[in-house]
Amino acid sequence: MKQVKFLIITALLIFTAALTGCGSADNADSKKVAICFPNTTPSWQRNSAALQDQLSADGFTVDVKSSATVEEQQQQIKDALQAKPNCMVIGAIDSAALVDVLENAKTYNVPIIAFDRIILNTDALSYYASFDNDAIGEAQALYFEAALNLRNGGGPYNIEFFAGGAADNNAHIFFNTVKEMLNPYLKNGQLVCRSGQTDFNSASVKDWQSENARPRIRELLTQYYSGETLHVVLAPNDEIAGVILDEIQKAGKPVPLISGLDGDPKAFERIRNGQQTFTIAKDPDVLTAKCVRMIKAVVEGVQPDINDVKTYNNGVKIVPAYLCTPQIVDKTNVQNF
Ligand code: BGC
Repeated sequence: MKQVKFLIITALLIFTAALTGCGSADNADSKKVAICFPNTTPSWQRNSAALQDQLSADGFTVDVKSSATVEEQQQQIKDALQAKPNCMVIGAIDSAALVDVLENAKTYNVPIIAFDRIILNTDALSYYASFDNDAIGEAQALYFEAALNLRNGGGPYNIEFFAGGAADNNAHIFFNTVKEMLNPYLKNGQLVCRSGQTDFNSASVKDWQSENARPRIRELLTQYYSGETLHVVLAPNDEIAGVILDEIQKAGKPVPLISGLDGDPKAFERIRNGQQTFTIAKDPDVLTAKCVRMIKAVVEGVQPDINDVKTYNNGVKIVPAYLCTPQIVDKTNVQNF
């Protein structure tokens, strides 16, 4: 009788442990998140650190991978998927180069969230957490329009264009939005691009690497602006704005009206010093907080908070998204940053 009682109690204990998941690998694994980000720019490093901190504080086990090249990122995603995380967050180096590596995400049933940059041509993507990329391009163009009084016939002003890396879908969105809004002024001569380099390919800075902008701005200055003033520069982000301004100053030219993006601390400093005109700040904590909420919902199997279900067609499906609002920072409000 004693032996039967002992067996029943033992069986009950095992059953309860199984139900609560106590000590089981399943439970330990139930909050495992993989982050696969580029390490190519300071803004990505800030995003990665912010996401990792918030997830760790919320009790997630975080596997962080950071890559410098497309090939390295593809390999890291493959490796991270082998561990079958409960969710994977990707900042794509090349928006269109992850189709094959994400096939396993479907096989292993790993939900994928695209962070800041959409991932194209795959149905393995579940959600997209980003800033409103159209709004960024719009804000850059509207700032130029107002500062140069273009609506009331201001100009003519000389302008040169820089764009982000071609492999990143965002770079095209920002550039196309700005161009579309400024085109009427280029057509009617209020804006003049002396180099004639107004298309994306000529303006694109390879891989978003700011140093790749240096030879081009030098060349533009010597070839087209030796006896002319360069009034306006579209810089697609703060790092690239920094390099452009550096070359303009080295050439002894006046500081132009120049845009930026991200809200890098160095850009805030340049705005305070009257060098960079403005930036569009993308607070990493704002996007991270939204992304963490999305991850939690996905891991719990519930519908995450989304605010856009129409804009991001990735070529295969419309990806439900949460788009955060970016903020313009110039000399009038930089003291708050
Ligand atoms: C991001 C920008 C960033 C750039 C370079 C883009 O996809 O949206 O915020 O500056 O990549 O990393």
